[in-house]
Amino acid sequence: MTTDLPLVPPASDANDPAPLPVVELIDVHRSYPGTPEVLAVRGVDLRIEPGEYLSIVGPSGSGKSTLLHLLGLLDRPTSGVYRLDGQDVAELGEAARSGLRGRRIGFVFQTFHLIGGRTVLDNVMLSMLYQAVPRAVRKARAVEVLEQVGLSGRQHFLPTKLSGGERQRVAIARALAGRPSLLLADEPTGNLDHQNASGVLDLFDTLHADGLTLAVITHDDQVSRRAERRVRISDGELSPA
Ligand SMILES: Nc1ncnc2c1ncn2[C@@H]1O[C@H](COP(=O)(O)OP(=O)(O)OP(=O)(O)O)[C@@H](O)[C@H]1O
Ligand SMILES: [Mg+2]
Repeated sequence: MTTDLPLVPPASDANDPAPLPVVELIDVHRSYPGTPEVLAVRGVDLRIEPGEYLSIVGPSGSGKSTLLHLLGLLDRPTSGVYRLDGQDVAELGEAARSGLRGRRIGFVFQTFHLIGGRTVLDNVMLSMLYQAVPRAVRKARAVEVLEQVGLSGRQHFLPTKLSGGERQRVAIARALAGRPSLLLADEPTGNLDHQNASGVLDLFDTLHADGLTLAVITHDDQVSRRAERRVRISDGELSPA
């Protein structure tokens, strides 16, 4: 089924065969002021190409959440350049950043952040509330993404009636609903048992095969190994894993 929701603009046009990277970080630093100052992210260069499935792996305190917040436009670098779909985001005000975040980034968190009293379908539809599209279109899109994550039969369930793996798949459907340029996942299997975790990782493989751009941040080598490309973060610095 197709819907009329606005599509993310293509990263390049027919005259330009080299697509723009989805993410381009150039010499990005993020320090937290204090005594002593904490250099949480130091001199990070990172490109994520359209359709790539990247993992960023590192131990506790290495700077993963700080980097995720920068990538997700939830925080600003202390210095350096961030281009998202070719657009320099440094100069944007908060309203423009949150608009861009809503349109371009799908978030998946360790704790699923679903609304307990609302059905699976409502949870997905609510993510599109601020898009200027009619309810019927939002509903059709929600049905479509729930089908994509294998939860068509659970539309009218409350999240409390679902397994952890199913809840995370609802969260993934919600993240996909707005057709993001980048799916950003923070320890997506951290609260799941082995079987549910592998279901979520299998779904990421399918989404990757369908062309989605994914960045998964994790401390878990087993999770990071599933990605097409791996980078390690250690004391705020990136290196190939
Ligand atoms: N708001 C803050 N103020 C000061 N220091 C901070 C702040 N947030 C994080 N830090 C410090 O920055 C460094 C990186 O933290 P970050 O939370 O990014 O690590 P992480 O890799 O996500 O760790 P974990 O796996 O434990 O979640 C740590 O030394 C941390 O103490
Ligand atoms: Mg963290």
